[in-house]
Amino acid sequence: MKKTKLGLPYTYQKCPELFDDFDAPDDINEKNAVVEKLLRQQGVKTVLDHACGTGAQVFFLTQHGYKVTGADFSQDLVNIARAKASKEKLDIQFIDGDMRTLKVAQFDAVITIASAVGHLTKKGFEKALRNINANLVKGGIYIFDIFNLQAMNDKTVAELAMFRNLKKAELQIYTAQCSSIDRENGLLTSYDVCMIQQKAKPPTIINDNFTLQIYTSKEIKEVLNRNGFEILNQYDMKGLDFLEDKSLSILTVARKK
Ligand SMILES: C[S@@+](CC[C@H](N)C(=O)[O-])C[C@H]1O[C@@H](n2cnc3c(N)ncnc32)[C@H](O)[C@@H]1O
Repeated sequence: MKKTKLGLPYTYQKCPELFDDFDAPDDINEKNAVVEKLLRQQGVKTVLDHACGTGAQVFFLTQHGYKVTGADFSQDLVNIARAKASKEKLDIQFIDGDMRTLKVAQFDAVITIASAVGHLTKKGFEKALRNINANLVKGGIYIFDIFNLQAMNDKTVAELAMFRNLKKAELQIYTAQCSSIDRENGLLTSYDVCMIQQKAKPPTIINDNFTLQIYTSKEIKEVLNRNGFEILNQYDMKGLDFLEDKSLSILTVARKK
């Protein structure tokens, strides 16, 4: 198999202060509401968000009465989450750590939302699954989403393109992103250009690309089965029935065997 470095988007490391503007999509709370409904159906009370970023799901679920712990291996993003919790006077534990290795405690559920597992190689995903399993109580629930390889035809990949501009304090920020797919290896690559301009000074221009490992629903079922989980159901990101060649993402609900 071709060796490809997966990598992380520039906002995670070089401009974490832009993460909430560029990496938290407008419909994030609709997705969070779908995740919350699935957790509620399973009677979950305690949740470990094992790729929490700046806390999009952590804060949403806390507001809905869950006891949530957030963890992420990006210290910068976790520090933003901590600052938000402190500003809102919320008692939430955030931990710096890697979902492949960090053990916190045993939770009713673990979540990794917004294609976070796509940053892992296939081997890394299997390691993360075994670690997630160890962070769950017996019969605990794992919920995660990832882009659906089977739905990545030329049209859907072209439609992933995004152009955005944003004014933030004295900064004017323009970004463009488009994607390509290596179907044979399940590798979805995003190409980004970001221009950040302050007043009339020459802009800082960032060129970046990163690759996500994506899967078919069959591959997801097989990898979960191999690593101590049974699949309860798969949905699209609206919580509707998953359609193999149409749903852009696979939202999986699995139970620790
Ligand atoms: C698209 S962001 C999603 C963050 C958050 N769930 C949200 O919806 O805003 C993906 C996150 O996965 C985290 N991540 C990637 N690989 C990781 C790993 N091995 N361990 C922990 N976090 C990881 C990144 O740092 C980033 O915060």
